[in-house]
Amino acid sequence: MSHPLRLVVLVSGSGTNLQAVLDAASSGAPFEVVAVGADRDGTGGVDRAAAAGVPTFVCKVADFDSRADWDLALARLVGDHTPDVVVSAGFMKVLGAAVLEAVPVLNTHPALLPSFPGTHGVRDALRHGVRVTGCTCHWVDAGVDTGPIVDQRAVRVEPGDTVETLHERIKVQERTMLVEVLSALATDRSWR
Ligand code: GRF
Repeated sequence: MSHPLRLVVLVSGSGTNLQAVLDAASSGAPFEVVAVGADRDGTGGVDRAAAAGVPTFVCKVADFDSRADWDLALARLVGDHTPDVVVSAGFMKVLGAAVLEAVPVLNTHPALLPSFPGTHGVRDALRHGVRVTGCTCHWVDAGVDTGPIVDQRAVRVEPGDTVETLHERIKVQERTMLVEVLSALATDRSWR
């Protein structure tokens, strides 16, 4: 029996995806959140981690001379917790080589990739007029939302949807998808 999958979760915002992972972990899912990191102060995600007794760290680009220095520092902070997987759950920074070469990184994105990559996936899908959008869990590579797809969930666009209403329905699917993907990765480690 292998040890629970060790996760470092990176966040920039409210952290509802993180909360779903924390809740699943405390309900017996085969993974544990060993640390939560943020790229800015005052995130709901770090508050949620602290409330759950999970170690946290903040690593801000503005505190470093270069993006490469930030990436190295982030890789060190992440590495201190010896994760099996890093989960980018609403982390609004593109990760550099130091992190990506050290540990597999899984990202959750609020659109059906390869359509609508980038920061405004929900808005861009809505503006395009798609009738179905959704969310994608994928491994992170050097591109923006370009890595191998692990799982996806579809969400219908309803008449009168705004970016906010659509995003909220996508996030319901996203949280379930993320927990299911992590459970599957913890159970079958052939991806390593
Ligand atoms: C998610 O939809 C994620 O895909 C996107 O930002 C949202 C983060 O939500 N990049 P939360 O912070 O987990 O509530």
